[in-house]
Amino acid sequence: MYNKNYDKIRMLRFGDLGDERGSLIVVEGGGDVPFEIRRVFYIYGSDATIVRGQHANRRSEFVLINVAGRSKVRVDDGLGREQVYSLDTPNTGIYIPSMVWKDMYDFSPDSVLLVLASEHYDGGEYLRDYAQFKAAVTCMEQK
Ligand code: TYD
Repeated sequence: MYNKNYDKIRMLRFGDLGDERGSLIVVEGGGDVPFEIRRVFYIYGSDATIVRGQHANRRSEFVLINVAGRSKVRVDDGLGREQVYSLDTPNTGIYIPSMVWKDMYDFSPDSVLLVLASEHYDGGEYLRDYAQFKAAVTCMEQK
C-alpha cells in the first residue's frame, strides 16, 4: 500500500527580485506554487511548547513559508513514512498535497508561518483523527 501524494511533497524556492533596497519575494498561484491560491492565513505567537496542525485534508493543498523566524513541519503518509522539514528561510516553502498528515512545531518566538491554501476553508474536509486519516488513506489507495 502506498500514499502517492506523500511523494509530491517538496521544498520550493522562490525567486528573489530584491536589490540594494532589500529582498522582494513573489509567489504566484499556478506558477510558483502548483495550485491557484484561494486562501491565505498566518500563524504567529506560538512557541517551542506548541504543536499545531495535527490534521490532514481531503482536498486542500498547502504551501507553508516561514516569512520570519523558524518552525518545523512533520509530514506523515499514514502508512509508516514520515519526515521533518525545517522552515527557516523566507524565500523557501514546503508544498504539502492533500491527504498528508502534518504537525507544525518548534516555533521560534519570532516565527510568522504563512500558509497558502488551494481551497476556501471547509472544516468538513479536515481529518483531525489520526485513525480516521489512516483509514481514509487506505481506502484512497485501494481505488
Ligand atoms: P486549526 O485548524 O486548529 O489551525 P492549525 O491548523 O494552524 O493548527 O484552526 C484553528 C481554528 O480556526 C479552528 O476552529 C478552525 C478555524 N479556521 C478557520 O475558520 N479558517 C481557516 O482558514 C483556518 C486555518 C482555521
